[in-house]
Amino acid sequence: MEQYAIKGGNPLVGEVEIGGAKNAALAILAASIMTDETVLIENVPDVRDTNVMLQAIENIGGQVERIDRHTVRISGRTIKDMVIEDDFIKKIRASYYFLGALLGKYKRAQVTLPGGCNIGLRPIDQHIKGFRALGAEIRIEHGLVIAETQRLRGGHIYMDVVSVGATIDVMIAAVMAEGQTIIENAAKEPHVVDVANFLNSMGAVIKGAGTDVIRIKGVPKLHGTEYAIIPDQIEAGTFMFAAAVTKGDVTVKNVIPKHLESISAKLTEIGCEVEESDDAVRVVAAKPLTHTHVKTLPYPGFPTDMQPQITVALGLSRGTSIVTESIFENRFKYVDELTRMGANIKVEGGNTAIIDGVSRYTGASISAPDLRAGAALVIAGLSAEGTTVIDDIRFIERGYEDFHLKLRSLGAQIEKVNSERELQKFRLKTG
Ligand code: UD1
Repeated sequence: MEQYAIKGGNPLVGEVEIGGAKNAALAILAASIMTDETVLIENVPDVRDTNVMLQAIENIGGQVERIDRHTVRISGRTIKDMVIEDDFIKKIRASYYFLGALLGKYKRAQVTLPGGCNIGLRPIDQHIKGFRALGAEIRIEHGLVIAETQRLRGGHIYMDVVSVGATIDVMIAAVMAEGQTIIENAAKEPHVVDVANFLNSMGAVIKGAGTDVIRIKGVPKLHGTEYAIIPDQIEAGTFMFAAAVTKGDVTVKNVIPKHLESISAKLTEIGCEVEESDDAVRVVAAKPLTHTHVKTLPYPGFPTDMQPQITVALGLSRGTSIVTESIFENRFKYVDELTRMGANIKVEGGNTAIIDGVSRYTGASISAPDLRAGAALVIAGLSAEGTTVIDDIRFIERGYEDFHLKLRSLGAQIEKVNSERELQKFRLKTG
C-alpha cells in the first residue's frame, strides 16, 4: 500500500504550476457526450477522478482519445448504453453528472447512486427535484437512479439549498429541454460558470451563470467544440496554505486570482503577505501566524474544500481560532489525526472546531480520511518536526496531480513509498 513519507521542517520556496479544475473537469467530461460531434478538452487534470469519468464514457460506448497528458478528444456519437453501473463509478460523487448529460441528450439515464468523499450525508434530492421539474420521471431501484421521459421541457426550479452539483446537473439537462428553464438560488462557484461557458461553446444558451439565477433556453442539438478548463482554485489554495504553514515563499502560477480572493483574504488576516499579479499569486509567510475565525460558505465565501487546510494553519497560529463548517456536517474527522501530531483542537457539535495554536507539530503515522483532509495532513507533515507517514493516499490522488512531485520541486522532503524497506531508506536518507 502506497504511503507518503515526509520529513518536515523545510520552508517551501519557489513557483508551482496549477492544473485544471478537477470539479469543473468532471462535469465538462460528462457533458461532452451530449453532442455527436467531436469535443476537444484541454487542461484536464490527470487525477483518479477524471480518469474514472473517462473510463465510464468508454464503458457506455463513447470514444476517448488522449492527445497528451492533459488533452482529450471525446465523441459521444457511438454511445449505446445509458446505464452507468460500474462499481468503481460509485466511488466518485460526480457520477451524477451523467444523469444530467444522458437525460438531456437521450431522455433516459440509469446511474449508480453516487458515493464520493465521506464528509457527511450527501443527498441528491435537489438534483432529482430539478429533473422532475423538467418533466422527467425519477425512481431509485436496486441502487440505481433511473431517470426517463418522452420529452424534457423547461421548468422553474427553486433550489432549497445552494448546491454546486445540483445546479450544474440540472443546467446540463436543461440545455436540451424544450423551452426556458430558470434555476433560482443557484450555486455561483467558478466551475458552475466554467461548465456554462463550455456548454455555450457547444451551442447552448445559458445566461446568468455566476449569479443566483441561471436562465437556459433549450436547444435541440449541441455541436463540437474546443475548450480549456479553468485552473483549480482548491489546488492553488492548498499550495498557498502550504507556504503559510511551512513559513515559505511560494508563487502559484496559472491561476485566476479573483477565484482565490477569500483564501488570500484569510492568509492576509493571519499574517502572510499575499501579492497578486495577472495569473499568479505569491504567498510569503515571514511573520508568525495569528489566530482568526472562519466559516465555510458557498462561493464567494470561504470554500469548504479549504477548511482542513486552514485548520492546519490555525493549529500553528498564536491564540484561539474558531472554524465553523456550514456546508457538510462531518468534515472534522481528520482532527483526530492532527491531534496525534500535537494539535490542540476541540470539535463541538460536529461542525465547530476551537483551536488553540501550538508552536509546532510533531511527525506521526496517520491516515488520510478523505481528499482535502488528506492534503491538509500532508501540509501539517511538511511543517512538523520529524517524520510523518500518511496512509490511504489514494484519496489524495483522486484530486491532486503529482502532489508529492510538485511539493518536492518547492523543497519539500516527501516521497511515495511502497514498503517498510522503502520507508526505512527514506528515514536513513533524511536523517
Ligand atoms: C461539490 C464538490 C465538493 C465541494 C462541494 C461544496 C464536486 C465533484 N464536488 O460537491 O468538492 O466540497 O461542491 O463546494 O464538484 N445537498 C442537498 N441536496 C442535494 C445536493 C446537495 O441537500 O441534492 C447539500 C449537501 O449535503 C451539502 C450542500 O448541499 O450540505 C452542498 O453540497 P453540493 O454543493 O451539492 O456539493 P457537491 O456537489 O456534492
